[in-house]
Amino acid sequence: MKQQNQSSEPLLRISRSPALRGRVSVPGDKSISHRALLFGALADGAVEISGLGLGGDNASTMAALRALGVPIQQAGTEVRVEGVGLAGLQQAACPLDCGNSGTTMRLFCGLLAGRPFASTLTGDASLSRRPMARVATPLRRMGAVIDGRQEAARPGDLFPPLTVRGGALQGIEYQLPVASAQLKSALILAGLQARGRTVISEPGLSRDHSERMLRFLGAPVSVEPEQRRVVVDPTGWNGRLRAGTVSVPGDLSSAAFLLVAALIVQNSDVTVENVGLNPTRTGVLDALIAMRANLEITVTGQAMGEPVGSVRARWSDRRLRGTTVAGELALRSIDEIPALAVAAALADGTTEFGDLRELRVKESDRITCIVRELQRAGVTVREAPAGFSVTGTAGQPCQGGRVQPDGDHRMAMAGAILGLVAADATEVPSQDIATSFPSFAQLLQVLGASVG
Ligand code: S3P
Repeated sequence: MKQQNQSSEPLLRISRSPALRGRVSVPGDKSISHRALLFGALADGAVEISGLGLGGDNASTMAALRALGVPIQQAGTEVRVEGVGLAGLQQAACPLDCGNSGTTMRLFCGLLAGRPFASTLTGDASLSRRPMARVATPLRRMGAVIDGRQEAARPGDLFPPLTVRGGALQGIEYQLPVASAQLKSALILAGLQARGRTVISEPGLSRDHSERMLRFLGAPVSVEPEQRRVVVDPTGWNGRLRAGTVSVPGDLSSAAFLLVAALIVQNSDVTVENVGLNPTRTGVLDALIAMRANLEITVTGQAMGEPVGSVRARWSDRRLRGTTVAGELALRSIDEIPALAVAAALADGTTEFGDLRELRVKESDRITCIVRELQRAGVTVREAPAGFSVTGTAGQPCQGGRVQPDGDHRMAMAGAILGLVAADATEVPSQDIATSFPSFAQLLQVLGASVG
């Protein structure tokens, strides 16, 4: 399926595709999988997880937990975590390698801030460039000692490798400088280990999987969504979460690439089943509907307080049209902006993407990367400090070529689906796709795409 290029980097070759058709499921939600593993480790007994995401990021979380003494058995997507409780975590014998995963690094900072030992957290080249002062600053205020690498070019910030010397923590009231579920979750984990209440407010409501799952597992966490506030008060709590079963729905962030592919490839009709539809994540669907996409969304049930369902996307000769993705819509589609940029590239008119400064510090600088890749494909695009605008081709094919994803899984997948509507061949270095969606190329093939 994958070809090798001269530097023996795996490469996907994509050509203009016939209609995509079929019903598929995508791998388990990456954000929920991290939390199922990590919170499972804090349970009072075994937690059985089904449908776990098997991407590289979730593997990093699993390996880090094992290094801290948590027994985990895995058979494919079925995983059994023997909860040891907070007090059962042991100092690791070596640095915890978070790989490419910002979620692993930031959530473990919060977890380890309250443990009475030192831990070192490392990451790959991309993660080592990502800002960590945002998590170190409040955790230091709570009482943890956190050191990291400094960069002359970005004074005042902190970068991996990080050393966390945990200990007795004191609850704080903290206003997050950015809406960030990674940061919020780190502070919730620290708050569970602190003396007194921790009150966390954020400027917008970021994904709330931690709050939902922790409440489901019996943690002393309450939410005030209108105030975008979370209160953690462990007074009188025994430090253990409820054991039981956890089922992870499919990842809407992965599904987004298949749905957008169906909307841009003529005569396509694709349904993604059993996918998470948490409203803090469904901005991508709202943005596509605003673009006049033909989507059918059906909620079929709940998993741990999270709505789950199916999404059907059908190509239509009534083309997509430009819209604005900013404000809370941008926050609720933060990981799907690369997929939305591809939809915008084929639409009628201009799509304005704004309030997206955070995209500059994701796995790559996604604004720079999206702008460069759309320009390579012959699409009109304009860069701004906190966003970009795309003037679509109104359904006309774009150009192929070699995608440069900057080591970013979502940029590689965006480049690949754009290749489905390119006049000539597209090549995508594909090794990073396994970070979140190892079966991406295989599912595209199942749907009938020309990917080889
Ligand atoms: C995530 C939160 C988001 C998101 C990331 C996963 C999570 O990051 O972009 O892919 O699982 O908590 P921020 O919290 O930094 O916005």
